[in-house]
Amino acid sequence: MEKEELVERAIEARKMSYSPYSGFCVGAALETEEGEVFLGCNIENAAYGPSVCAERTAIFKAVSEGCGDFSQIAIVGAPRGESISRFCAPCGVCRQVMSEFCRKDTFMIHLYDGKEIRSYTLGELLPLAFDLDGV
Ligand code: THU
Repeated sequence: MEKEELVERAIEARKMSYSPYSGFCVGAALETEEGEVFLGCNIENAAYGPSVCAERTAIFKAVSEGCGDFSQIAIVGAPRGESISRFCAPCGVCRQVMSEFCRKDTFMIHLYDGKEIRSYTLGELLPLAFDLDGV
């Protein structure tokens, strides 16, 4: 799938964000090597700690349905009621979760600021990751 289309899917996913505490709505669209797309949004909790990011929602949905080979993810985020105007980079925990299931050299992470898409490999965003090779 073209990265532009995947960004559109992430914008769609963001509409489901449950974020009454931060008011910051994030959407993610994750594509498998087979071309299947899993959407995710951030889901917050009154106890804060149990909150989950949009990226992990999408990844855990996919893994729990038997998918493990991922090619790319698009991520968008902005305060509720605002349109996308800044890049929303994945947090460190989400980068670590990606490193469990995605290839460092080929998995692409697309960020969108409302004007342009910037794309990075997972290895660029998480160098020297602690992963299966290190266990
Ligand atoms: N958030 C994500 O969903 N993904 C990111 O990559 C960064 C942060 C969420 C977590 C929290 O619900 C809100 O954005 C504010 O931090």
